Amino acid sequence: MQRERELPHTPLLFLIALAFGVAFSLANTANGDYLIGLGSYDMTGPAADVNMMGYAQMEQVTAGVHFRLRARAFIVAEDSQGPRFAFVNLDAGMASQLVTIKVLERLKARYGNVYTEENLAISGTHTHAGPGGYLQYVIYSVTSLGFVQQSFDAIVNAIELSIVQAHKNLRPGAIFINQGDVVNAGINRSPSAYLFNPPEERARYPTNIDTGMTLLKFVDGQSGKSRGAFSWFATHGTSMSFNNKLISGDNKGAAARFFEDWFRFNNSKPSQITITKTISSESKLIETAKRFKATGGQPCEKTSSQNSKVRKNNGSLFVGAFCQSNVGDVSPNVLGAFCTDSGKPCDFNHSSCHGNDQLCVGRGPGYPNEILSTRIIGERQFQKAIDLFESAREKLSGKIDYRHVYLNFTNLEVQLQGNKVVKTCPAALGPGFAAGTTDGPGAFGFQQGDTEINEFWKRLRDILKEPSKQQVECQKPKNVLLSTGEMFKPYQWAPSILPIQILRIGKLVILSVPGEFTTMAGRRLREAVKETLISKGKGEFDTDTQVVIAGLTNTYSQYIATFEEYKQQRYEAASTLYGPYTLSAYIQEFNKLATAMATGEKPKSNGLSPPDLSSVQLKLLSPPFPDATPPGTKFGDIKQDINKGSFAKGENVSAIFWSGSPRNDLLTEGTFAVVEMLQGNHWIPAYDDDDFSLFFKWGMDEFSLHGLATVEWEIPKDAISGVYRLRHYGASKKLPTSPNEYFTGASSSFAVS
Ligand SMILES: *[C@@H]1O[C@H](CO)[C@@H](O)[C@H](O)[C@H]1NC(C)=O
Ligand SMILES: *[C@@H]1O[C@H](CO)[C@@H](O)[C@H](O)[C@H]1NC(C)=O
Ligand SMILES: *[C@@H]1O[C@H](CO)[C@@H](O)[C@H](O)[C@H]1NC(C)=O
Ligand SMILES: *[C@@H]1O[C@H](CO)[C@@H](O)[C@H](O)[C@H]1NC(C)=O
Repeated sequence: MQRERELPHTPLLFLIALAFGVAFSLANTANGDYLIGLGSYDMTGPAADVNMMGYAQMEQVTAGVHFRLRARAFIVAEDSQGPRFAFVNLDAGMASQLVTIKVLERLKARYGNVYTEENLAISGTHTHAGPGGYLQYVIYSVTSLGFVQQSFDAIVNAIELSIVQAHKNLRPGAIFINQGDVVNAGINRSPSAYLFNPPEERARYPTNIDTGMTLLKFVDGQSGKSRGAFSWFATHGTSMSFNNKLISGDNKGAAARFFEDWFRFNNSKPSQITITKTISSESKLIETAKRFKATGGQPCEKTSSQNSKVRKNNGSLFVGAFCQSNVGDVSPNVLGAFCTDSGKPCDFNHSSCHGNDQLCVGRGPGYPNEILSTRIIGERQFQKAIDLFESAREKLSGKIDYRHVYLNFTNLEVQLQGNKVVKTCPAALGPGFAAGTTDGPGAFGFQQGDTEINEFWKRLRDILKEPSKQQVECQKPKNVLLSTGEMFKPYQWAPSILPIQILRIGKLVILSVPGEFTTMAGRRLREAVKETLISKGKGEFDTDTQVVIAGLTNTYSQYIATFEEYKQQRYEAASTLYGPYTLSAYIQEFNKLATAMATGEKPKSNGLSPPDLSSVQLKLLSPPFPDATPPGTKFGDIKQDINKGSFAKGENVSAIFWSGSPRNDLLTEGTFAVVEMLQGNHWIPAYDDDDFSLFFKWGMDEFSLHGLATVEWEIPKDAISGVYRLRHYGASKKLPTSPNEYFTGASSSFAVS
């Protein structure tokens, strides 16, 4: 590894460095090195009562934590004065326009114009198991009863703080790139629509999904130590079904958890990976303990970690992120979809069983155990990421660059081949949208591929909003079920202004798309952009240029299917908002941005910007009930202790505590649950609620309506034999306006052998 070279210490440079707050900004980046910053922050959010984002099922509300959600960020800069960009990957369903707007405001207040809409990308992993209510358009907040401030704040804070952390630790280093195929982590869930694409086009690809994973590895210039890795690979975050109520990062969050733990514990021996042994974070315990001390609650038990391996978050930060790509038609339920009544495969064209879409459900590799499926699909991505990480030899060099533009997708003119000009339409959803997918069937008797809407639904629809004549014509062959682009009451139902963005590090080009491109749609976009870069770039780009799609980035506008797939009107096509030429419009506009990048021009501002709807959001979610415990008990007391004195590895052990709502304090960067191990005469934290083996579940006692916290530990096969107990941390409020009172409680001890 080359040492960095020092720039002359002129006072001006020094002032600029101070202004930018870059600790190492006086160091130049020699020999193709960049300045690299990495950050990570907890964004778990409210673990009770909040509708989960993704399946749009009213009943699916959070009720605990399987493992925590994080915002993971990297910043790269050519050097302290040169171009830079920041990329943040969220364990969230998708990016949100309002989140992006508010994050940009905060970054502006901190850093002036260092991070703007132009050079900041915020991308969602597409987990369907995180708290919702953080998007601003009506259609994305119907089932969450509108906007949920707590979900929103958790995400905005985490993005901001992950960027602050990355900004503070910017220092010289190298970036390596690698690519390989992930085996059996995705399956096309709309193969009949894929078959609508031209045979000669399909013949160019081995399968109906993209299996490629592209990975960036960040290495410190001074110490030569690895600092993190970000990878892009397409598969849905739907290993957890809509029956799940525990907050979870789904398969990509799991992969990130495993990767970061692997780096801490097994770094040198990738062959001996034991992902179950993830040991509690000291920093989280300290964070949890701080609140308890600050409010005079019962002090934490001793959290010393002597003799215990813990996740340390101080300077040895390692960030492993798994980002989403052209995920539109890719399901992680790789065994395929089957009828729940007969066990037979579903109807090929409609994904239904004798006309009923709700009976047709996809199966993950751990079927019927969806937590196992999440783990397996997570592991498959994690294992490939390790391979790519260990064997990454190709060092990136060359420019950092970016381009960004807002577009009004309501009526974009699109020039097709042969000079034919067509237009996009206001946003609309077809009946196939209401049918849902095999990852989460919808309701009301719709089927994927439907192009008819019965009279009853038409009348209902027209009460909400009868689509305009132009809209009906424009969207064909989609039959308009909801003309969301023409609905403005009480505020906009769907976005019309969307950002598109290109980020570049040397030969790597990242396309930030505000939605879910299907496999073939993504291929067409990547190819078109690459061709444009090569043809316009005067040698800057060549066939070696690598184009990656970052899905669900900066805002959300559902799906983008190809023109041909649009004909079948399955879920992805019915959710392609702006009509049959949506993809053509993206390709045309990305080509313009690519041309600007290749020729070194900045596109003129078109004056468009997305609305900030924060002042008009409906917020109908009630605050938590005031907390109380049954007579003679207090918060943290045991309702149901462990049921025996000793357990075998592989068994489950659980205890139930009287508790307050997790919405009182999210215990961000802390934990609701800990497994403690006896060492000498001290209880040492061994696992926390971010561990895959530990479950924190929240609910109400059916009869008394008092809050209950269940701490359930699936004792890992490789747990150390010893004496353990389960501990719960929480906060209660007498009234919604009262201050938090912190409490903790522990189960009886038990042996594990
Ligand atoms: C950070 O880690 C180093 C090395 O492991 C350790 O010596 C130091 O005490 C830690 N600092 C904090 C604040 O935990
Ligand atoms: C699916 O639909 C296509 C036409 O869209 C038809 O040719 C094909 O036979 C159908 N397949 C099945 C299994 O019904
Ligand atoms: C987007 O285009 C539509 C149709 O021309 C127009 O009604 C709307 O005002 C435009 N939106 C913005 C923010 O310019
Ligand atoms: C252990 O608990 C977890 C979480 O509740 C559950 O998913 C799993 O099925 C349980 N395992 C056994 C063997 O009961």
